[in-house]
Amino acid sequence: MIKSKRNQPDTLSEMLALDDIIARIKSLRVPGDALTWHRFSGSLLLVLLVLLFLSGAFMSFYYSPAPGIAYDSVDYALYSLPFGDVIKGVHYYSWNVLLVVMGLHLARAFVVGAYKSPRQLVWVSGVMIMLLIPASIITGDLLPWDQDGFWTTQVRISIIASVPFVGDLIVRLVQGGSLTGIVALTRFYVLHILFLPLFLVFLVVIHFHFLRQRGLSASWDKEHSNRQTISFFPQFVNRWLLLFLTVTAVLGLISWYWPAPLGDPADPTDSTFVPRPEWWVLFLNQLVTVFKGSLTLIGSIIIPGGLVALLIALPFLDTSSDRRPASRKKVMLFAGIIAIIWVGLSIMGYVQHFNGTHS
Ligand code: HEM
Repeated sequence: MIKSKRNQPDTLSEMLALDDIIARIKSLRVPGDALTWHRFSGSLLLVLLVLLFLSGAFMSFYYSPAPGIAYDSVDYALYSLPFGDVIKGVHYYSWNVLLVVMGLHLARAFVVGAYKSPRQLVWVSGVMIMLLIPASIITGDLLPWDQDGFWTTQVRISIIASVPFVGDLIVRLVQGGSLTGIVALTRFYVLHILFLPLFLVFLVVIHFHFLRQRGLSASWDKEHSNRQTISFFPQFVNRWLLLFLTVTAVLGLISWYWPAPLGDPADPTDSTFVPRPEWWVLFLNQLVTVFKGSLTLIGSIIIPGGLVALLIALPFLDTSSDRRPASRKKVMLFAGIIAIIWVGLSIMGYVQHFNGTHS
């Protein structure tokens, strides 16, 4: 009896084994170059994700997901609430910058061959994260219930509806019927603030789990050599916090001087309104323009879907152990051609939609 009493934890800290957890965190070590100038994109992505979650949480105190009222609540937060413009701006600029940084992160991992064994699953989990970000942006675009968000959503819904067999079903599931109204707004809101963020956090944890298990890539000729390490806490955490504070200050200042845009309130009867595509979908928009009529599916589903499938399969197709770009000429050339087509289509889309020839 006495023995079992002695085994029981005395304090809350013992009960939660906090000392144990703290000791474990203190003993963690990460590679010395885990956050350096040439390897900052992953940590920066994490900073931006945290900023998105924080600013989103603040905005949800004021936002009402009902057509009409939604617009007024965003308008109030943006123009009347102290620092409301900064919070909305940080949310807006964070996802824009996140897309650019994610592109750089992917490009770096591709060029240095970091997707190769043993990091195939780090890469695959990264591609999964990459697919989730557009879903978050698409659901977020409708929330302010302004003309741009409403009509951009109509374009996207018509593209989804054109997918054979499942298109109509997906549209009905996401917007609860054929029209974009209160049910659609509620579903987009719940997806945006609950399900997609939960899934995103889950995938980021998986990404980090595989990173920890498989390790960061070293330079090509030093893969197996001993590298310097730093403590996770406080050395790495301090660096990350410095990055976090700097990015928060920069995005906060930008939001202060150039507030996030909010158009006119949505008017579902005004079918003459032509929304401008966001910069990150310009290439997709052009693809849909190039493949018109009966070929629509090629531009909207087959080519983008094929590229995603290729990205996922990359570590299992390119299996040579040599990571040097010069030894991967075919893969580099193929990626270069895709990148040129991508940029070319985006420029064409920009000229068409933003340079006076908007039709
Ligand atoms: C929000 C999304 C993401 C976060 C927070 C994130 C975070 C990180 C971090 C902190 C690192 C280690 C440091 C670094 O190399 O920068 C890393 C490495 C890596 N990430 Fe991501 N990542 C994300 C998205 C992606 C995407 C979209 C891909 C590619 C499809 C990807 C593929 C990789 C690979 C292959 C590595 C290993 C790099 C190496 O060992 O040199 N990640 N990620």
